[in-house]
Amino acid sequence: MTQDTRKFPENFLWGGAVAAHQLEGGYREGGKGLSTADLSTLGSKDHPRENTATIEEGKYYPNHQGIDFYHRYPEDIKLFAEMGFKCFRTSIAWTRIFPNGDEKTPNEEGLKFYDDMFDECLKYGIQPVITLSHFEMPYHLVTEYGGWRDRRLIDFFLNFAEVCFKRYHKKVKYWMTFNEINNQTNFESAGAVYSDSGLVFGPDDNKEQLMYQAAHYELVASAKAVALGHQIDPSLQIGSMIAMCPIYPISSKPEDILFAQRAMQTRYWFSDVHCNGFYPKWLLNHFETQGFEMDITPADLAALKEGTVDYIGFSYYMSFAVKYKGNLLYNENQDLVANPYVKASDWGWQVDPVGLRYALNWFTDRYHLPLFIVENGLGAIDQLGENNEIHDDYRIKYLREHLEQVKKAILDDGVDLLGYTPWGCIDLIAASTGQMCKRYGFIYVDQDDYGQGSLKRYKKDSFYWYQNVIATNGAQL
Ligand code: BG6
Repeated sequence: MTQDTRKFPENFLWGGAVAAHQLEGGYREGGKGLSTADLSTLGSKDHPRENTATIEEGKYYPNHQGIDFYHRYPEDIKLFAEMGFKCFRTSIAWTRIFPNGDEKTPNEEGLKFYDDMFDECLKYGIQPVITLSHFEMPYHLVTEYGGWRDRRLIDFFLNFAEVCFKRYHKKVKYWMTFNEINNQTNFESAGAVYSDSGLVFGPDDNKEQLMYQAAHYELVASAKAVALGHQIDPSLQIGSMIAMCPIYPISSKPEDILFAQRAMQTRYWFSDVHCNGFYPKWLLNHFETQGFEMDITPADLAALKEGTVDYIGFSYYMSFAVKYKGNLLYNENQDLVANPYVKASDWGWQVDPVGLRYALNWFTDRYHLPLFIVENGLGAIDQLGENNEIHDDYRIKYLREHLEQVKKAILDDGVDLLGYTPWGCIDLIAASTGQMCKRYGFIYVDQDDYGQGSLKRYKKDSFYWYQNVIATNGAQL
């Protein structure tokens, strides 16, 4: 087959993505408060991370150190610039700005850290792309309010968003509100403290109802933040951040197809609300048939309408498949089946490049909004060679195959794509397992799962490959 040497659109935002809690470290520096991520222990593929109520001696909390980006960011950003990054996606740790989350006045030292870090990016022409809440929140909001089960969190979040928009609007154009907000569909496997929502489930809780309630408050907070951001600076682009795993029917049997459709509706009603500004009818019916009495006010519904997003940021790692089981109640922890047409990574994630083109078209058909791939990548074990070289051809293959599909989606299908920021452009702490050995980076960080190592940075083969991809604007993948 001849190589497709067409270029990506001019001004395409090539870059990389990370999140504050997975790389910054400095977990008690600069006045930072304790976040939910600071209470998450090391896990593995077979042993879930534990979320402890306090920091327990004898347990290892990998996010405390991260990869020490808090102190080393000038060196790391220099390496991003060497690759040719046009943008760098990271998040603002809420606890650096509001250590407890419910204060009125922000912590100046935290604000200054991000000012300095953004300036360092801008010095090289790299624009920061910012997520406000990426899988962490002030732990105080969990112990005092029960996390997002409490409506008051809307105002705390808005306060945080307002401070950030006002302070950084001249440095940051692209924002996202809640990282992978729709991964809450997976609520059954939630640990003690769950991702963005900070929910701790009690024995009497109906987990599903509580998930919907927390997600509703988050969606209202997100919509209000979008409206507020536009008021502060109309040029801001504020998006959602959705974890896109297309759910295929396992066969062409009509019931399998109908069930896959409902599974998609269950996983993507979050983006329906973000983009359309109202709840899909099937879900309102579901609340009724399940007897969920939801706190959704007319003022909330108005806010959702007024704060629809400007673009859809999304992550893409894998696809799922389902088989009809006799009813349409989709349970993400029980209903996924293996797809015989795709292979899985060492961590069991089904690798499916064609699914990315499908996803880009699916979003476009459904919402007609610009898209931004803000995560994509392969978590794999890398070997550091004797001369500090890393031959990660498996990672290059994964990214190349995905980018080939992205190119087709843009140039053949007409998808409007703003940019591409592969996940973990520098090795960092894995979110699901807390491991360091699950590496995504173009840059290797010498540190093991227990925080041992020199923390030195080394360029992998993929570093040079991606540098060339950016230099040729995707003509050479
Ligand atoms: C996404 C998250 O779910 O996937 C990231 O937004 C996360 O925070 C990434 O790191 C990869 O997952 P993991 O568990 O391999 O780090």
